[in-house]
Amino acid sequence: MDAQSLEPPTADDAQVIAQVCRGLEQVAFKGRTLDWLRAKQSKALATPRHWDLIYGSARHFFSLRREIFEYLVKPLRSKDRDLEMLLLVGAYQLRFSHRPAHAVVNNTVSACQPLGKPWARGLINAVLRKMQRNAPKFAASPSTNNPEWLAQKIMQQYPDNAEALLYAMDQRAPMVLRVNTSKISRDDYCAELRTKAIPFALSEPAQAVALTTPQPASSLPGWAEGQIAVQELSAQFAATIALQNIPSGADAPVLFDACCAPGGKLYQLHEQLSRRFAKYTLVGNDKSTSRLEETRKIGHRLGHSNDPKIIYQNTDATAADALSAESFDVLIIDAPCSGSGTIRRNPDIRLLLQPEQIKKQQTVQLALLRNLWRGLKPGGTLVYSTCSVFEEENDHVIEKFVGEHPETRVQPLQLPFGGATRFGWQMLPSEPTTDGFFYALIRKAPAS
Ligand SMILES: C[S@@+](CC[C@H](N)C(=O)[O-])C[C@H]1O[C@@H](n2cnc3c(N)ncnc32)[C@H](O)[C@@H]1O
Repeated sequence: MDAQSLEPPTADDAQVIAQVCRGLEQVAFKGRTLDWLRAKQSKALATPRHWDLIYGSARHFFSLRREIFEYLVKPLRSKDRDLEMLLLVGAYQLRFSHRPAHAVVNNTVSACQPLGKPWARGLINAVLRKMQRNAPKFAASPSTNNPEWLAQKIMQQYPDNAEALLYAMDQRAPMVLRVNTSKISRDDYCAELRTKAIPFALSEPAQAVALTTPQPASSLPGWAEGQIAVQELSAQFAATIALQNIPSGADAPVLFDACCAPGGKLYQLHEQLSRRFAKYTLVGNDKSTSRLEETRKIGHRLGHSNDPKIIYQNTDATAADALSAESFDVLIIDAPCSGSGTIRRNPDIRLLLQPEQIKKQQTVQLALLRNLWRGLKPGGTLVYSTCSVFEEENDHVIEKFVGEHPETRVQPLQLPFGGATRFGWQMLPSEPTTDGFFYALIRKAPAS
């Protein structure tokens, strides 16, 4: 949520800003994620204003920080990192909110008190006043809002549209719903949205509804009744791809969702399968016990958790005993990845991701493919996906895997957004509603 959409500052604003600074310090200097902050500091960071400031400051972290450093006469000491965060929060509001500049500066300066550093008031005031007087320094090129290696990688892998892609990564993410068609049709749900005057647009696939303005999911009609889930648009194609590629003749198909938590694709598949098949088995596996527990909770809200057709399994899918050989018609590997395609949704990724982690992710992605492939029946289909825009996690993984397995048959894909790559299909956040997302579809040659 942008600052301009919120209520005017209150007397407590300095306290809020100080809490935000402490939270941001955890992300910028202690390697914590925004999800961690949400889980562990929900009492302190309790209002939409907190989260607007956190997300906005994280989203524009690198360009704002560069600008702040231009105006600091000497660098801050490492024990004053909270003050660096304070400048960041002030700078974010000056550059990206419609709040009056004098109120922004006053409230930011006042936050020195709850931070226990009243001596820094003059310093904070001086830097923010200089920013206020001068035009933004780095707005022209979004590549400056990135670590050098990340901007370089995007420019190298997307030479034709790097600027558009980098620009898109600085924007707020769209909010897309998946209508739970086992409870309500998309048409009927849209009628509910119209009654509540909530604007939206329709998109493929047939369960997707893109909201014009993001809002808290729990305030939407039908949320408590499980009529909808929040699910990014590009991720919603997994179920369609899997369903279209169930081998003909499989009238009670068995599907294995190897990395299922928190269940977006799992439940979408279930909702679609139940319309087409009287019998099927859908195994939802994940290595993380807590994430699988969360998956069950979400399934409960959607009305799916007691369905015996879904079997939950808590194993490391790279381990030999995760599955029996040749037992699945369809295998879905929504692999753990860098998340580089979701940076506008998860701006902390840009702060936390290190280039060497991409290689580590690739190792896990290949281990998943190599181990799980034996579970696929001859003639069966593998859907591989990541929410990454990096070829190391996408085409390179598939190229290596296919090179090792002569019985693989890479299938062409055609989706309404994005474009073909050598081994799959890539969607990008520079398209209106999708995140960066990759799919590959591989068939196992039938037994001869
Ligand atoms: C991208 S998320 C999956 C999102 C999910 N498919 C959805 O649509 O909601 C990746 C998941 O992989 C799981 N994971 C990571 N390594 C794994 C492994 N070796 N075996 C099984 N699951 C793993 C993580 O716990 C995480 O839940």
